[in-house]
Amino acid sequence: MNKLKLAYITGASKGIGRSTAIAFANAGWDLILLSRDLVIMEKLRDELSGMNSKINLVKCDLSNAHEIENSVKESIKKYGCPSVLINNAGCAFNGNLVEMSLKKWQEIIQINLTSVFQICSLIVPSMRKNGGLIINVSSHASYKPFTQWGAYCVSKSALAMFTKCLREEERSNSIRACTITLGSVNTPLWDSESIKSDFDRNSMLSSSNVSNTILYMAEQPESQIIEDLTLMPVGGTF
Ligand SMILES: NC(=O)c1ccc[n+]([C@@H]2O[C@H](COP(=O)([O-])OP(=O)(O)OC[C@H]3O[C@@H](n4cnc5c(N)ncnc54)[C@H](OP(=O)(O)O)[C@@H]3O)[C@@H](O)[C@H]2O)c1
Repeated sequence: MNKLKLAYITGASKGIGRSTAIAFANAGWDLILLSRDLVIMEKLRDELSGMNSKINLVKCDLSNAHEIENSVKESIKKYGCPSVLINNAGCAFNGNLVEMSLKKWQEIIQINLTSVFQICSLIVPSMRKNGGLIINVSSHASYKPFTQWGAYCVSKSALAMFTKCLREEERSNSIRACTITLGSVNTPLWDSESIKSDFDRNSMLSSSNVSNTILYMAEQPESQIIEDLTLMPVGGTF
């Protein structure tokens, strides 16, 4: 039985990742947090300093395959192998598929899909010793096509299938892999320059409700798994 409460959360500086770090720290988990922005994560660590949670930070740009290899390897050596890995970091971009540059396509696929493959490849071999849980943050864009969101839809769809295959491959090693599939969530993602939208932010899911759901998935007994949990807002566009 793996009693270690150490969660590795990517994309922890903002939005869902930040809320998830707060929810897990509140629940007494130790954390390894990864993003490109060490300053924001240091502020978050200060905010959480009153909690009984040890917080370790990793600065890494997931668009850089070489950086992932070094940073993640180093972080496991320094802070230990997590019992829960939450692959949350992601990016979005609006644009027609065939008009998108190869560079942009590769960047989206690298951050939303290939980085998850790389991180799992680096962590799963150590995780096999005590078992563990991998939660990949997906989107309803993984099964529903949206115009102007093609690359994002493809990346999340592939991530969902990656998770299913990983689950079957690692089941006998007591590693559980699952997805949380989300409708729109009110996060800084919608402020990014690469997205053009005027959706009603107030009718989206809140990142704190999403993070409480991720915590619920993480705290399931080790003998069971929520293979995919789809969380949608009731109102709004989607
Ligand atoms: N918001 C939604 O409506 C929604 C819906 C469905 C699914 N999702 C998924 O939920 C996840 C989190 O999204 P969010 O809405 O919380 O987005 P967000 O507020 O924009 O936060 C994204 C996080 O990912 C990190 N990140 C982005 N690019 C990175 C890179 N190259 N290297 C390292 N870290 C990087 C960011 O950190 P830094 O910028 O500090 O590096 C940030 O912490 C994503 O996978 C997204 O696809 C979101």
